Amino acid sequence: MNEGTLSEKIQIRYLKEAGSNCCLSCGGALDFADLKEGETMIDLGSGRGHDVIKAADMVTPSGHVYGIDFTDEMIKTAEKNIEKLKITNAKILKSDISNIPLESETVDAVISNCVINHALDKEKVFREIFRLLKTGGRFIVSDVISESELPEEVKNDPEAWAKCYGGAIPKNDYFSAVENAGFNNIDILEESNSYEKGGVLVRSITIRSYKK
Ligand SMILES: C[S@@+](CC[C@H](N)C(=O)[O-])C[C@H]1O[C@@H](n2cnc3c(N)ncnc32)[C@H](O)[C@@H]1O
Repeated sequence: MNEGTLSEKIQIRYLKEAGSNCCLSCGGALDFADLKEGETMIDLGSGRGHDVIKAADMVTPSGHVYGIDFTDEMIKTAEKNIEKLKITNAKILKSDISNIPLESETVDAVISNCVINHALDKEKVFREIFRLLKTGGRFIVSDVISESELPEEVKNDPEAWAKCYGGAIPKNDYFSAVENAGFNNIDILEESNSYEKGGVLVRSITIRSYKK
């Protein structure tokens, strides 16, 4: 499989999705973030910026929120929403979530909602989260996982990736990616029953871990 090509095709799908009602979240990551005034938070795959806007209000006035996204249309929409609401402590950065242009150990909380399933290398994303978090910081991630290894034709279908199931991996593999990145304890905060998407069985899950 040519990963670059698949990644490019997935991004093209996102361009189409930006103006539609797709890209709904997978759980309540932000609800579990327990943000406090003055904290710095990052939202990986911030989409149209809804969670960034809510989080900015929770950490104001001295805290700051960064949304990370790689799709121009999503960034434009999020920036418009931030400007409309006159929010001054939030910024969207154009970047891949596995290589973020922010300093190590500067962040109190990282959230992500329905995004890491889209990453070709999930462990690399969790290593990036580990790098960014201060000691004692936490991540809360809502995501889609698969019930079992997905068939090759689904794994190679950019449409399936953009629709949040083509890149889903089984829970054991997902948790290994988190642990290999340096996180020791994983709390499961929400877990749905399995449901069908594009002919495969998946479930939604929200997890949290602290950098010790
Ligand atoms: C399903 S939407 C979720 C948006 C938002 N978190 C929400 O809950 O509404 C996925 C978003 O993640 C972004 N995304 C996916 N993979 C990414 C990556 N590797 N780096 C940066 N952004 C990514 C997409 O551009 C899109 O805006």
